[in-house]
Parts: sequence; structure tokens; C-alpha cells
Amino acid sequence: MSIQIVLNRNVLKRLGIFASGSGSNAVKIIEYFADSHEGRVVVVFCNNPKAGIIEKAAERNIPVEIFDRETFKTDAIIDKINSYELDWIVLAGFLWLMPKVIIEKFANRIVNIHPALLPDYGGKGMYGMNVHEAVWRDKLTETGITIHYVNDHYDSGDIIFQASCPVFPEDNPQEIQARVLQLEHKYFATIVEALLRLDQN
Ligand code: GAR
Repeated sequence: MSIQIVLNRNVLKRLGIFASGSGSNAVKIIEYFADSHEGRVVVVFCNNPKAGIIEKAAERNIPVEIFDRETFKTDAIIDKINSYELDWIVLAGFLWLMPKVIIEKFANRIVNIHPALLPDYGGKGMYGMNVHEAVWRDKLTETGITIHYVNDHYDSGDIIFQASCPVFPEDNPQEIQARVLQLEHKYFATIVEALLRLDQN
């Protein structure tokens, strides 16, 4: 009689990305996970039919699901998500509040990136350039990124990772944004991969 030990480690987790805009973080994640032993991006969900991410994902052979507010508020979005059998959801520049029904289904398996050091400069209306303009107006000397779990309030789930960068007196908001984006591109995919590695389900 032979005994087989089946290791679950090599099962690739299925990632869905939600994005609303140009999608530079989404692209980094798609490309990083194309070679990962932990997961693959299998779909991009997008609420903005004009978003740059739509073409970028399609160019990389990732299906894109475009949805409107009505779909997002109903079971239709859950049905769509179910059809991709997702294990994790990554918000990469996604600007709508996630509905409770999705958060409950993916408890501690939805992560977001925010372009500031939360809890500062978070909350409704604090996204993208609004954040960098506020940091610039307040003459901060440091800003950064936060990767956090998503709950049903804006930017207030448990923090997983933060990294900071300087803000120089001569910076304008665009320069701050560029420096922060570099940090996002450097860390987001590797932190998501570390979370997948820890997820033994
Ligand atoms: C990123 O800087 C991300 O942190 C931010 O939107 C940008 C999207 O850029 N997200 C938020 O502000 C969420 N509150 P991208 O489309 O190039 O990845």
C-alpha cells in the first residue's frame, strides 16, 4: 500500500482586479502574476467604460467585465464574480465603495492600495490626485502608500503594509503623485503574493 501526501501549495489562487482608471497598478499585478507560483489574474472588473485599463487588460489576454452602478448594487455582480471562481479581489485604483455582499463573501480576501499613509488622507473623496493635492497644500515632508484589507467604509480596513517617501519643498502635486506611484508599483504585487502564500485555504 502506498500513502500519498497531497500538498495544496501549488494550486494557483484566482485573482480578480477591480479598477476604474488608467490601471498602471493593475497592469503591474497582471504582469507580475503571469509568472507567480501563487496566483494568476483571471479577470478585471471595471466600472468606467472609458478607463485605460480596459485596453491594457485586453492586450494581455485578461477578460474585462464592465459594469454599471445598478449591477454593482445587486446580486448580478456576485453572479459575475462567482462565474470566475475568484479566491481574492485586488482593488487597484477602484473608486466605488465595495458593497457588503462582496465584502462578506471575501472576508479578509479583498485588498486595496491607497496613495497616502492612512489613517491620514483617507475617506470619501480622498483618491488619486485629490490626495496628493491635500498633502502638497498641507506642506507635508513625507507621504507614502498603504495596502489594507477592505471593509464597508472607505480606507479604514486593517493595514497590511505601508511604505513612505519624502515630499520636497519644491515638489508640485504631480511630482508627489509620481513618487508615490513608484512605491505602489514596487510593492503592491509582492505584498499580494505574500498574502496568497499565507492563505492555505
Ligand atoms: C493609485 O495611485 C491608487 O493608489 C489610487 O488610484 C491610483 C490609480 O492609479 N487609489 C485610490 O486613490 C483609492 N482611494 P492606476 O490606475 O495608475 O493604478
